[in-house]
Amino acid sequence: MKVLVTGAAGFIGSNFVIRSRQVRPDWQLTVLDAMTYAANLSSLDPVIDDIDVVKGSVSDPAVVDELVAAHDLVVHFAADSHNDNSLEDPWPFIETNIVGTYQLIQAVRRHDKRIHHVSTDEVYGDLALDDPARFTEETPVNPSSPYSASKASADLLVRAWIRSFGLQATLSNCSNNYGPRQHVEKFIPRQITGILDGVKPKLYGEGTNVRDWIHVDDHNDAVIAILEQGRLGETYLIGADGEMNNRDMIALILELMDKPADWFDHVPDRPGHDLRYAIDSTKLRRETDWQPTHPDVRSGLEDTIAWYRDNQDWWRTAKVVAEARYERLGR
Ligand code: NAD
Ligand code: DAU
Repeated sequence: MKVLVTGAAGFIGSNFVIRSRQVRPDWQLTVLDAMTYAANLSSLDPVIDDIDVVKGSVSDPAVVDELVAAHDLVVHFAADSHNDNSLEDPWPFIETNIVGTYQLIQAVRRHDKRIHHVSTDEVYGDLALDDPARFTEETPVNPSSPYSASKASADLLVRAWIRSFGLQATLSNCSNNYGPRQHVEKFIPRQITGILDGVKPKLYGEGTNVRDWIHVDDHNDAVIAILEQGRLGETYLIGADGEMNNRDMIALILELMDKPADWFDHVPDRPGHDLRYAIDSTKLRRETDWQPTHPDVRSGLEDTIAWYRDNQDWWRTAKVVAEARYERLGR
């Protein structure tokens, strides 16, 4: 099978390609990535001789048309992905996440191919901290930030193309990923790399906001399970029951890195900051044989810390740029 993977010089996509080479070695993989600030081509070093890489944008119709025509399946990870950046400058999020998805589904439709659209639990907005509910596939979309609104828009386009044009597509909405090769602007790598440099973790607001953490390999295994066992036209929520508030996550990172529990700073909160995400992945577990193989966040985090300690060349340049941006934002 010829598989086009968009955005695979980024965090989840690069791990998807590496994982796919291990578990589906017969797939022929092509990466389409615009190589934005979030990309790091060296993430693909372990598999670079076995894949094709094309530099280009998902919002470029000519590039997309040619590549989609030459593949059987598109796995669509490409996105602008960071909430804080979307609050500063929403346009790239509209262009890549909405227009880019539009170009892909039009090409998939034209050439009668299949697409899996990778999305986020943030499209559902947030839950109250004391609400026992979790998101399901039936939860109405209610996004809070320009990023999550752009992802919700893309999801709605894919669903409309399924219904109106019979697009061969599946969708997934996953919770917060952690693991190796995540950009240092994101919460967990920002704190790990800061601590390695002797800088205290930065907690937005009071830090009671809850995220539902999942190891990136578990996310990608779920995507493969949906590709092979999921039903066309369906949406699947992906989560591994990893709810934890940000304060507790910082405490765990500090403990694993031998620092005192109170060695962190409070910084101003993110505007519109979602309170809590929580995923009910019953449908995915009922319809496929997927189950997480990294259910213990503590041990997944130990491996992640070791990865950032051992791969400092991978993140040093991006760290300088990301922290300059945070300094401008006062966070
Ligand atoms: P990332 O920012 O690490 O990587 C995104 C990649 O997309 C980068 O390599 C970037 O260069 C590429 N890209 C950006 N604009 C592009 C364009 N116009 N054309 C082609 N490539 C482009 O993001 P990530 O964390 O790996 O997220 C990947 C996908 O998973 C996104 O769709 C995101 O919404 C979704 N998702 C992420 C999480 C998470 O916790 N990180 C959770 C659920 C879903
Ligand atoms: O839920 C899935 C989403 O998870 C994905 O769709 C997004 O692409 C991904 O970036 C992530 O969004 P979040 O906004 O939840 O992730 P982020 O890593 O930016 O922040 C996680 C939490 O930590 C959030 O509550 C904000 C907080 N935070 C973040 C940073 C960078 C801090 O307290 N301090 C920080 O320095």
